[in-house]
Amino acid sequence: MERALYGPGGFYRRELPRNHFSTSAQTPVFAEAVARLAGEVDEALGRPATFDVVDVGAGNGELLGHLASLLDERAHLTAVELRPKPKDLPQRISWRADVPSGVTGLVIACELLDNVPCDAAVVDGEGEVRYEEVDEVGTTRPGDPIEDADAKWLAEWWPIHQVGERAEIGRPREAKWRELAECIDAGTVLAIDYGHTRADRPETGTIVGFRDGRGVGPVPDGTCDITAHVAVDAIPCDRARTQREALRELGLPIDRPPLARAYRDPTGYAVELARASASARLTDRSGLGAHWWMSTSKPGGR
Ligand SMILES: C[S@@+](CC[C@H](N)C(=O)[O-])C[C@H]1O[C@@H](n2cnc3c(N)ncnc32)[C@H](O)[C@@H]1O
Repeated sequence: MERALYGPGGFYRRELPRNHFSTSAQTPVFAEAVARLAGEVDEALGRPATFDVVDVGAGNGELLGHLASLLDERAHLTAVELRPKPKDLPQRISWRADVPSGVTGLVIACELLDNVPCDAAVVDGEGEVRYEEVDEVGTTRPGDPIEDADAKWLAEWWPIHQVGERAEIGRPREAKWRELAECIDAGTVLAIDYGHTRADRPETGTIVGFRDGRGVGPVPDGTCDITAHVAVDAIPCDRARTQREALRELGLPIDRPPLARAYRDPTGYAVELARASASARLTDRSGLGAHWWMSTSKPGGR
């Protein structure tokens, strides 16, 4: 997964996420909600002289691009991304490959954790839990027995016993979360992602590939995205809620405009209708609305 996504010629070294799948962060209305959240965090910190907004795994920078027109100059906007900075992004957005330290403000990571490479485990024919190996055409087989730290994680978060049962070992996602949480001096860290909790873990795991907008086999040859849902309850955050709940609290969804407006102001009506449609998509219970918002806040010294 590491090599296929981030190694030389890997999927994310070449491809733009938006050409293969759509995410909340690509949607302008989502940025409006994030701007409101940034405002709340800023208020809670007592409106410091500079307020950082750091987007980790920023893709093509769409979210920060939208935020640049919503937040005042006091907001320092930083993308953390392995890809180069797109040429058309506003100058005020800085771009770097590593997570900064000493952040005061909001750190956000949309659909990053599901792309943090993780190992899969499978119960073999003898009932032993082993790592699952995969070859370059996607054929899998049981490999070495699971090491202690991973066995401990599985026992606590995703126990598997029946022959053929699979699990994805979430330790690297926890480690990435801790790295994000540690980079803030004061403020809020928020990761948004697909996920499951112990009550609804899928029996055969979730690893899947994506290419050109469609689910494909997770073949690790660099031609597709490879993703696995996040074990949300294993992430040591203070709060986890669905995107639907979170966006409602922040003032979405946006209502459909009254039809009468279409006669008075057809352009305005079309714009508002597009916003309402985007907002409905972001809060759809069976789609993006089911994503998890995992967050932790550190108070600032006022
Ligand atoms: C699924 S895309 C999400 C892009 C964007 N946040 C969105 O929601 O549309 C994941 C992005 O995370 C980036 N990424 C993965 N691991 C990273 C790391 N360790 N540091 C910086 N960026 C990383 C990838 O290059 C990719 O652009």
